Amino acid sequence: MRVRLDERLLACGELVRLDKIICDVGTDHALLPCWLVQRGAKSVIACDINDGPLLSARETMEQYGCEGITLVKSDGLRNIPFAEDVIIAGMGGELIGRILSECTFLSEDFRCILQPMTKAEELRRSMYRNGFEIISERTAGVHGKCYTVIYGRYTGETAEIDDETAFFGKNTDRAYIEKQLALLDKMGNGNPSCRVLADRVRRKLNY
Ligand SMILES: C[S@@+](CC[C@H](N)C(=O)[O-])C[C@H]1O[C@@H](n2cnc3c(N)ncnc32)[C@H](O)[C@@H]1O
Repeated sequence: MRVRLDERLLACGELVRLDKIICDVGTDHALLPCWLVQRGAKSVIACDINDGPLLSARETMEQYGCEGITLVKSDGLRNIPFAEDVIIAGMGGELIGRILSECTFLSEDFRCILQPMTKAEELRRSMYRNGFEIISERTAGVHGKCYTVIYGRYTGETAEIDDETAFFGKNTDRAYIEKQLALLDKMGNGNPSCRVLADRVRRKLNY
């Protein structure tokens, strides 16, 4: 039986290099690792901090005949010795940033696929502060909501990014930009600089 992913996880999975050592952090049901194995991935680790998701991951692996996946109980990447492509999806941006910043096996070939549910701006700031850069971003929409999927790499060069980069990153999709503008409008009630940024971006893009 073939694994079917929703648009959000599919957008993440399509960025993964199948010939690399892959780690899905916070795997929960392990649908994405099973999908990757069915596509030809040779080396896949699926980790989660909680026992319940790891049990559910085991069931999914049996259901789809993907027993070769290595299951690890781990807070973030703490118990993972090495991986080249790391996926961290479906968590808050601050948690994803913390997990990535603790990675101990970074190299020029390291790639990360990050899909924050909230606080994408904090994730982008944390990435650049810790020596990562964003290669590209794409939007994935599910049930009327849209999320950004960030494809990043490690450069070792740290930087502070401006507010516009933090809130919009490299995502040029109109639906995502409008979502971030609405967020800035909401934040602008207590923080005038958010309103100024939203107005500036609207003028620049003619929205
Ligand atoms: C909402 S689920 C997302 C599942 C899947 N990645 C997805 O995007 O559909 C979040 C998962 O992350 C796990 N998690 C939360 N904090 C974690 C941490 N610090 N390290 C590893 N896993 C964590 C939870 O146990 C849960 O299974």
